[in-house]
Amino acid sequence: MHNILLTPGDGIGPEVMDATQRVLGWYGQNRNFGYTLEEGLIGGTAFEKTGRSDPDDTIEKAKKADAVLFGAVGGPQWDSLPFAQKPERGLLRLRKDLELFANLRPALCFDALKDASSLKPEIVSGLDILIVRELTGGVYFGEPKETTTLPDGQKRAVDTQVYTTSEIARIARVAFELARLRGNRVASAEKSNVMVTGVLWREVVSKVHKEEFPDVQLAHVLADNCAMQLVRNPKQYDVIVTDNLFGDVLSDEAAQLTGSIGMLPSASLGAKINGKQAALYEPIHGSAPDIAGKGLANPIASILSFAMCLRYSFGRVEDAVLLEKAVERVLADGYRTGDIMQPGMNQVGTTAMTDAILKALAKLSA
Ligand code: IPM
Ligand code: MG
Repeated sequence: MHNILLTPGDGIGPEVMDATQRVLGWYGQNRNFGYTLEEGLIGGTAFEKTGRSDPDDTIEKAKKADAVLFGAVGGPQWDSLPFAQKPERGLLRLRKDLELFANLRPALCFDALKDASSLKPEIVSGLDILIVRELTGGVYFGEPKETTTLPDGQKRAVDTQVYTTSEIARIARVAFELARLRGNRVASAEKSNVMVTGVLWREVVSKVHKEEFPDVQLAHVLADNCAMQLVRNPKQYDVIVTDNLFGDVLSDEAAQLTGSIGMLPSASLGAKINGKQAALYEPIHGSAPDIAGKGLANPIASILSFAMCLRYSFGRVEDAVLLEKAVERVLADGYRTGDIMQPGMNQVGTTAMTDAILKALAKLSA
């Protein structure tokens, strides 16, 4: 029995989570997938109900769960909350407390969507890259992180970029291991020309490569150049490994290459300890407050995040592939939510898109 925690959160989070729950139900009924569900409050919604965006109760439930399916957090109504109470704290605390240091963000361009990208179709068709983002270190969590007032009355804000050898080595290993299962190439992105953390990053990645993964092809690239190469010739990349902040930026950029950020899933994984591995799966789009509650959200990123959950947490590779194929099928059949709409296609909302995916699952598995 798989123990799954749902944290729908804010904005379109609950809508895409409902859609995903229907897919879960389908796997329960048709693929012998045994699971129990719990729900946890997170983000602005949690703040409204409990006074905190990162309730202890949710963190505890998440620690016990085999996997967390996460929706989204944030919205304009919480923009003026003090920093420590912002909806994003909920997500950041989950990442930190569960030690989810490895964030896998695949950017895959579905053939049916190659014309939906803002880049020329020949640049993105067949694109399949995996960004491996370090998720529990760097400037997101480094101390000091503070705003002080100087004697002359102006303010001074500090964020701190910190990395240790072991933090870099463990994310590098994840990237090399995953590369072996795909194109066997890793590009490591940092700013070793201006940051000492970048110098250390390059040294440690090189050492891990030399000692443990000499069979994998490794290239070092400066993060700014990587950003440029991603729009110039993204298919040169297989796996990109990078730190928390560069990974945040580069993964949004990579997402847009595929046509819409509404398409991309992600997995955040901890270390495997005694066969157990903390894991959180989340669409990389945010809470999209402008379309929240309207039934318009694209549920595909959330549904594909569940496919990643099947693959990485439950070892159900066949079931994951089935779900990915079902998504491919509905796109090929012309179903489009507003964010990926193209002329001549069939525009649908969240529910109809999910209906179509469930139908495709039934057909493909018959
Ligand atoms: C992401 C998001 C988060 C981040 C926010 C919501 C805190 O942008 O997962 O990419 O910056 O990591
Ligand atoms: Mg981001």
